[in-house]
Amino acid sequence: MHDNTIGTVMITEEQIIEKACEIGKQIEEDFAGREIVMVGILRGAVLWMADIMKHVNLDMTIDFMAVSSYGAATKSSGIVKINKDLDTDIEGKPVIIVEDIVDSGVTLNYLMGYFESRGAETIKICALMDKPEGRRVDIDVDYVGFEVDDRFIVGYGLDYDQKYRNLPYITWLKSE
Ligand code: IMP
Ligand code: MG
Repeated sequence: MHDNTIGTVMITEEQIIEKACEIGKQIEEDFAGREIVMVGILRGAVLWMADIMKHVNLDMTIDFMAVSSYGAATKSSGIVKINKDLDTDIEGKPVIIVEDIVDSGVTLNYLMGYFESRGAETIKICALMDKPEGRRVDIDVDYVGFEVDDRFIVGYGLDYDQKYRNLPYITWLKSE
């Protein structure tokens, strides 16, 4: 696991939790008095979503979607496929999409359109990381944990070929 294919610790668990607390409180303020639906994008967003949601003291429900566009490559194929759909009726409700990382923006652009078509009242995005250099589609991330350089990130939910999700910190893949 701690072999020479990954770098050193880039962002610690403590830094992530502190940021999740800040963003959670911000969401609580922004949606005061509202009931929200938080939708986590499997599988990468699981740890980040858990950190965020416990700091949001509002009435809310959660749901998950699974989409894929990558396979075992480190660059987006540009094609988004739904592997697990929503179970919740989001019509007329404020939705917050929780993502691990925004790179090209293709995935979120697709999801925004999808959530609109399902009648969401508003759609906000909360991402653990943003890689602005990778952007191919214009997407605004409303709540960002950390901005990172254009390298392939693993850990804290993020994988390479399904590995490294369980690392309790964020690092990068060396052998890119
Ligand atoms: P986008 O569609 O290019 O914005 O890519 C979004 C999805 O690709 C994210 O949800 C991640 O699952 C995956 N992804 C993008 N960059 C990375 C990375 O650096 N490490 C791991 N997964 C990534
Ligand atoms: Mg993902």
